[in-house]
Amino acid sequence: MAPKFHTLNVADVRQETDDAVSIAFDVPSELRADYHFIPGQYLTLRADVGGRDIRRSYSICSGPDDGELRVAIRRVDGGLFSSFANDAIGAGDPIQVMTPDGRFTFDADPNRAGQYVAFAAGSGITPILSIVKAVLGAEPKSSMTVVYGNRTTQSVIFREALEDLKNHYPTRLNLIHILSRETMEAPLLSGRIDAEKAEALLGKLINVADTDAFWLCGPEEMITTVSDALKAHGATPDRIRFELFTPANDGNPKPKRVASPGEELPVRHIGVIIDGHRIDFDMVDDGTAILDAALENRADLPFACKGGMCCTCRCRLIEGQVEMDKNYALDDDEIADGYVLSCQATPTTDTVVLDFDQR
Ligand code: FES
Repeated sequence: MAPKFHTLNVADVRQETDDAVSIAFDVPSELRADYHFIPGQYLTLRADVGGRDIRRSYSICSGPDDGELRVAIRRVDGGLFSSFANDAIGAGDPIQVMTPDGRFTFDADPNRAGQYVAFAAGSGITPILSIVKAVLGAEPKSSMTVVYGNRTTQSVIFREALEDLKNHYPTRLNLIHILSRETMEAPLLSGRIDAEKAEALLGKLINVADTDAFWLCGPEEMITTVSDALKAHGATPDRIRFELFTPANDGNPKPKRVASPGEELPVRHIGVIIDGHRIDFDMVDDGTAILDAALENRADLPFACKGGMCCTCRCRLIEGQVEMDKNYALDDDEIADGYVLSCQATPTTDTVVLDFDQR
């Protein structure tokens, strides 16, 4: 089923660092099943900020046994929602919260003896924290190494929570902090997680061959660098999962293509299926994404980043052909199976039908 918004009240706001808060939500008993999450998933929050309808996705930091639903939000320079969240949201406030989504996940198996590694930078630790809690709590024979890059000790989100986990599971959690603006005793632990650092870590502290899964979460540069290093050390792509943490494009639609003199832009017929209903409309093929055209035609479709990253707008192409502009979320197998990101898809055939019930 497509994810849905519900209004939830904020249960608690906690200041995690100078520029980051975590927010927990009250989930009424009748919605508990809808907000059941898999570690690594995210919530999309929606609010009117300065007269604009803004949506942003934030990863869940709670573990399966924490008994709460909590996300972390770091302030982004000029970020509308992150500033609103850090400055204005308080306990008791109603916020529109989409049901959990995302496939950067970990499914625990209590019988598994897994070796896992995560690389996180900055607020990229948020989904990793949820995964770490699940590994340690639900897989007693598994262990995990977390490489976590930050500027300074003060800017480390969830420093205490991670230290508590390390104290509780000293032999199963290996925590490696790398700081770019503090000099550490060991040179290996100073600097940024770049190609050289990744190479040094893989040579000294991480055994790629013995690792069952890698989770990478942070800016694109870190993900590409670490992913390339892992592959060079023999990690197969199916063992590497990643999630980009990059500011979204504020939900602004792409600029439209203007017809040159004498040219007539084609009109395409679009069908979208959601919750068992089909909505049909025509759109001028001027570079507008099908998601934006469908929203203009009052289709209530799921979306968040509109930047090809979060995958909330994923659906299946069941008729016609489309072209995608950006895609940071779907892998080759999913594309071969007909999945598309509707926020990035423009029609290339006269008729296109997208099914949002097949996500
Ligand atoms: S809305 Fe995020 S990928 Fe389309």
